[in-house]
Amino acid sequence: DTYVFIMAGGVGSRFWPKSRNNYPKQFIDILGVGQSLLQLTYARFEKLCSHKNIFIVTNNQYKDLVAEQLPSLPAENILCEPSRNNTAPCIAYATFKLAGLNPNATMVIAPSDHFILKEDVFVEKIQQAVNFASKNEVLVTLGIQPTRPDTGYGYINYDRTPTEDGVFKVTRFMEKPPLAKAIEFLESGDYVWNAGIFVWQTQAALNAFETYAGDIFKLFQAGLPFYNTGEEQKFINEHYPNSPNISIDFAIMEKANNVFTIPAEFGWSDLGTWASLYDNAHKEGNNNVINTKLSKLDDTENSIINVPKDKLVVVNGLKDYIVVDNEDVLLIYPKHKEQDIKKVTEELKNEG
Ligand code: GDD
Ligand code: MG
Repeated sequence: DTYVFIMAGGVGSRFWPKSRNNYPKQFIDILGVGQSLLQLTYARFEKLCSHKNIFIVTNNQYKDLVAEQLPSLPAENILCEPSRNNTAPCIAYATFKLAGLNPNATMVIAPSDHFILKEDVFVEKIQQAVNFASKNEVLVTLGIQPTRPDTGYGYINYDRTPTEDGVFKVTRFMEKPPLAKAIEFLESGDYVWNAGIFVWQTQAALNAFETYAGDIFKLFQAGLPFYNTGEEQKFINEHYPNSPNISIDFAIMEKANNVFTIPAEFGWSDLGTWASLYDNAHKEGNNNVINTKLSKLDDTENSIINVPKDKLVVVNGLKDYIVVDNEDVLLIYPKHKEQDIKKVTEELKNEG
């Protein structure tokens, strides 16, 4: 059986100030289509399996928000974490819980904040990954053709000879490389980006955690008597915060030797930053992306301007900038420095 776990516990700090601690970007209608990124993600996976096989893993803080945005999701399918420890513990929790529900399950783990244009191709590729993973002890990822030396992604190199299922063996996985490496990888033409979607059997994941992330494995293994009982949340609340804080990419994907990839083109974008939204959005004259009809832009190019609805915007002489006016925060930032926005939010936090 196929189960989907949508990870929706991140804060999306590079999308600040639109994405806020109490209302992260996955819950926002960032594309202006009437549905949040989480709702769009959920709808995509409804094409793959039934509601009862879809789970959302999120922070305690967002439980009500998830329930409100996804009324057809069974209440018991929301897994709540008491702390933010990144995706490795999030996935370990999901895996141990599912192993108790169905020991022969294949899991699809997906982010909640991506934009996907060709949904049918997407579902087809996921199905291909599920077929392969359900027969083999493998960790499958989807690979996206890179378009820029973005240091926010995982980079994957793979053996060009396909398996009989049309899947490729990964020879190297490097998470968030330094810029010089990212440029080298892009120019070599040998690498794809990790789409951040993982497909594997529960047992393959448990073995990988045991081998490469022993601390995390042991911590969640101690919960075996409690998963899917009335004491699950109590166990999680008590022990989850003690897990190492690390992403699945660093904890397992970089290390494992049974990683495979399916190169896929489905109009994918990680709406991780303002520039990625810019790339996917409709552009007005002079390549500006602006979310209000009431504007007068002169001598202004390649900028993204996001303001409260119906606000009149007048700009002269702006190039390659992000401008976000968000009630209590005004952000004016050069596009090429947008990876620093995350740092700024951390500094602001520390300064209180
Ligand atoms: N439940 C839960 N708990 N979800 C989390 C947590 C957590 O502690 N941390 C992050 N998430 C969710 C985010 O909301 C997002 O949907 C997903 O997990 C991935 O986290 P990101 O923080 O967005 O990861 P990333 O974009 O830096 O990197 C990952 O995705 C890239 C592609 O978008 C990596 O897998 C990269 O290798 C990959 O290229
Ligand atoms: Mg991301």
